[in-house]
Amino acid sequence: MTLAKNYQKLQAEAFSNKYREVVAIQEVALEEPVEEEVLIKNHFAGVNASDVNLIAGRYFADAPLPIDLGFEFIGKVQAVGSKVKHLKTGDAVMGIQAGGGYREYVTLPAAQAIPVPEVSAEVMSMLTVGLAASIGLDIVGEMKSNETVLVTAAAGGTGHIAVQLAKLAGNHVIGTCGSSEKADLLTSLGCDRVINYKEEDVDEVLSTEYPDGINLVFENVGGKLFDTCVNHVAKLGRIVVCGFVSEYLQKETVTSPRIYHQLLWKSASIRSFLFSDFPEQIPTHLQKLIGLISEGKLNVTIDPKKFKGIDCVVEAMDYLYSGSNNGRVVVEL
Ligand SMILES: NC(=O)c1ccc[n+]([C@@H]2O[C@H](COP(=O)([O-])OP(=O)(O)OC[C@H]3O[C@@H](n4cnc5c(N)ncnc54)[C@H](OP(=O)(O)O)[C@@H]3O)[C@@H](O)[C@H]2O)c1
Repeated sequence: MTLAKNYQKLQAEAFSNKYREVVAIQEVALEEPVEEEVLIKNHFAGVNASDVNLIAGRYFADAPLPIDLGFEFIGKVQAVGSKVKHLKTGDAVMGIQAGGGYREYVTLPAAQAIPVPEVSAEVMSMLTVGLAASIGLDIVGEMKSNETVLVTAAAGGTGHIAVQLAKLAGNHVIGTCGSSEKADLLTSLGCDRVINYKEEDVDEVLSTEYPDGINLVFENVGGKLFDTCVNHVAKLGRIVVCGFVSEYLQKETVTSPRIYHQLLWKSASIRSFLFSDFPEQIPTHLQKLIGLISEGKLNVTIDPKKFKGIDCVVEAMDYLYSGSNNGRVVVEL
C-alpha cells in the first residue's frame, strides 16, 4: 500500500487554559512503522473535558513543548513493522495515549493496539469515559445495590455511562443536567430522577425528596454543585470525584470551614481518581463494557453534531465546554 506523504496533527505550543490561543495544526511527514510498531489511520477521536488539562500542563507539566494532543482513537491498520505478526493492514484497532487522538495517523507499539471487530465511535469511547465510569463507581466508589446514587453532568460522555452502570447494578439513580434534551436522554436511559438544574434547585430537590441522603455520588462538575453533594451525602456515604469540569478553565477560590467538619459526623468520605492509575483493572473493565454494548445493555450515545477533520477539534472542545453536548462528543478524522 502507498502511504500518504504528510498528515496533520494538533499540538499545543504553550501550556495554557486558553486552549484556542495555544493550539495549532502541524503538517508532518508520515513514516513507515518499524519492527514492533503499527501505523494506524485514525477514523474517530474522542473529545474529552480533560483535553484542557493536557493543554494546561496539568498532566505532564515538564513535557517538552510543543505537545501532541488528544487521547483515544479508533481506526484501521495502515502498515505494520517487520516483527508484527498478529495485526495486518485493514484491521480495525483502537488505542489510547496522550497525544494519540488529534492526528490523522498514529504510530504505536503493536501490543498497545487493541483489535476490535469494527471501527465504532461507541466502542472507542469505552477507553476513556467508559473506564472512568466503571472503575470510578466499582473500585473507587465501592458501588453496591439498592442504594441511592447521584451522578452529576449525567448526560455527558462520562455521566451517561455512569448512570447506566449504576442502574444495571440495581440502584436508584439521580442525574443532574442542564437542558430538557439532556433530561429526555437521561429518562430514556432509565435515570430515576432527573434534575435539570436550570429549572430546579438541586439542593431543594435533594432536601425534599432524599432526606436520608445520597449513598454514592459520582461527581463530575465541582464548584457549588460539589458543595451541594457534600451537604447531602448520607451516613457512610462516598463521594467520588471523577472531575471538576466547572473549574478547568477558571479556578474558583473559596473560603469555608475545612471539609472534615461536614464528613466526620456522617462517617462519609471523599475519594478521587484518574482511571489511568488503575492499570491492572483496565482489561477487565474494558471487556465488561464492550460486552455490555454488544449485549445491548449499555447504550453509548454519540452526540449528533458532526465535527470532521483536525481543524474542527477546537470547535468540538468549545461545544463540550458550552455544555451543549448530549452524550459523547467525537471528531471524525
Ligand atoms: N477521573 C478520570 O479518570 C476521568 C476520565 C474521564 C473524564 N473525567 C471527568 O469526567 C467529567 C466529564 O467529562 P466528559 O469528557 O465526559 O465531558 P462531558 O460530561 O461530555 O461534558 C461536560 C459537561 O459538563 C457539564 N458542565 C457543568 N458545568 C459546566 C461548566 N461550568 N463548564 C462546562 N461544562 C459544565 C455540562 O453538562 P450539564 O450542563 O448538563 O451538567 C457539559 O455538557 C469531567 O470532569 C472529566 O474531567 C474523569
